[in-house]
Amino acid sequence: MSAQIGVTGLAVMGANLARNLARNGYTVALHNRSIEKTDALLEEHGDEGDFVRTETLQELVDSLEKPRRILIMVKAGAPVDSVIEQLTPLLDPGDIVIDGGNSHFEHTRRREATLAGQDLHFVGVGVSGGEEGALLGPSIMPGGSRESYDWVGPMLEKISAKYHGEPCCRWIGTDGAGHFVKMVHNGIEYADMQVIGEAFDLLRSGAGIEPQDQARIFSDWNAGTLSSYLIEITAEVLGHTDDRTGKPFVDVVVDSAGQKGTGRWTVVSALELGSPTSGIAESVFARALSSQQDQRVLAQESLAGHEATVELPENFVEDVRLALYASKLVSYAQGIDMLTAAAAEYGWELKLDEIASLWRAGCIIRAELLDDIMKAYAGKDRPANLLLAPAFTEAIAGAVPAWRRVVSIAVQLGIPVPVFSASLAYYDGLRRERLPAALTQGLRDLFGAHTYNRVDTEGTFHTMWGADRSEVEGVDTH
Ligand code: 6PG
Repeated sequence: MSAQIGVTGLAVMGANLARNLARNGYTVALHNRSIEKTDALLEEHGDEGDFVRTETLQELVDSLEKPRRILIMVKAGAPVDSVIEQLTPLLDPGDIVIDGGNSHFEHTRRREATLAGQDLHFVGVGVSGGEEGALLGPSIMPGGSRESYDWVGPMLEKISAKYHGEPCCRWIGTDGAGHFVKMVHNGIEYADMQVIGEAFDLLRSGAGIEPQDQARIFSDWNAGTLSSYLIEITAEVLGHTDDRTGKPFVDVVVDSAGQKGTGRWTVVSALELGSPTSGIAESVFARALSSQQDQRVLAQESLAGHEATVELPENFVEDVRLALYASKLVSYAQGIDMLTAAAAEYGWELKLDEIASLWRAGCIIRAELLDDIMKAYAGKDRPANLLLAPAFTEAIAGAVPAWRRVVSIAVQLGIPVPVFSASLAYYDGLRRERLPAALTQGLRDLFGAHTYNRVDTEGTFHTMWGADRSEVEGVDTH
């Protein structure tokens, strides 16, 4: 029996994707560096569909119909290169190598170019939804040549999550586009989680609401405009009591947030693209600060707080909800701005409505909001910024008074709200008529003759700061 797709790398994500493919009627050839994992999968789940057991990459390749489709599910980085190196000599022109890990999009671009030189297709696929998503239907973001999508698209669409019957899988664009979009998804995921954390901290430290009671608040919020997977599971985590101590679970977990890298990559890429992704950046920095336990212990003893006493508004919980919602919108706006910048930089025709549409189900950031975001980009009049889409301009306007109250209360109480406040600063920066960037330009011109433009005439100018301060037309020579 020849298999329609091969999967190499059978850790949880690989195993679950292989099972998902088999459950959807595809014959799946299995390969893992150690045969034990392959056998364990067959032992436990072999009856879920048609699997072909293979012991070597050569066997895997030989078991597949042509053009071959091979899904690599190994750890991102060097292991992917190592599998590609072993695999490619065994393949024929037209075969398709698929990387379903969280690979860096630049690596995907490089690998795609190398394999294209050998007449092989390389498809970098962003997969979101965690272990359960991989098994039951993830959100899938495939990049690579349009032609390769004809071979892998139908399969991926079939195993993907469905939003009202629509597959959450679309061809994203050439080379690294799929992994880029997955990376930005993760950046938004970081910001989403951080704003939830800030809301939790404000409600606990500001309003004294205990986790169990907050679980109910988050559940209520999940029934409204904030409805999303992350808000739903926040209610679950906050409602959980630790078995050993009887304390709220959140109180027995060390408050150092881990990170595997995709959030950091998002911010590095945003910096390179010149896209102001401040909320996402603050969420990455918040995890970094949380992990500086030694410094935090010393700072708790030494740094003064001088917190003020603040009377909380009666509807503080609702204010926090609105601040969370507004900050969340900003994170999406910033993520989407990055996608626009990347499309121009890398020559991708990213369709923002389609990207929003495939984040509506299956992935970690799935949210009701994404349906409206999709609609905002679906028409001809695409907004220059998500916040400028009429529906969102109005929605955020309704949240602004509460947002300002919450940020100022947080500042007075000494509760750090890096993403709430950075997002508000972004919002104000965007809407402000004059920014102090004019002064920055003046300073740059004084110390470095970097020149400036004038508001009243075309051209580039320099003031002779060290001489008579006359103005000359000039070019920045530094
Ligand atoms: C997803 C998740 C997934 C993974 C993150 C975790 O979309 O399914 O984003 O890819 O859970 O990479 O990232 P951190 O360990 O950096 O939080």
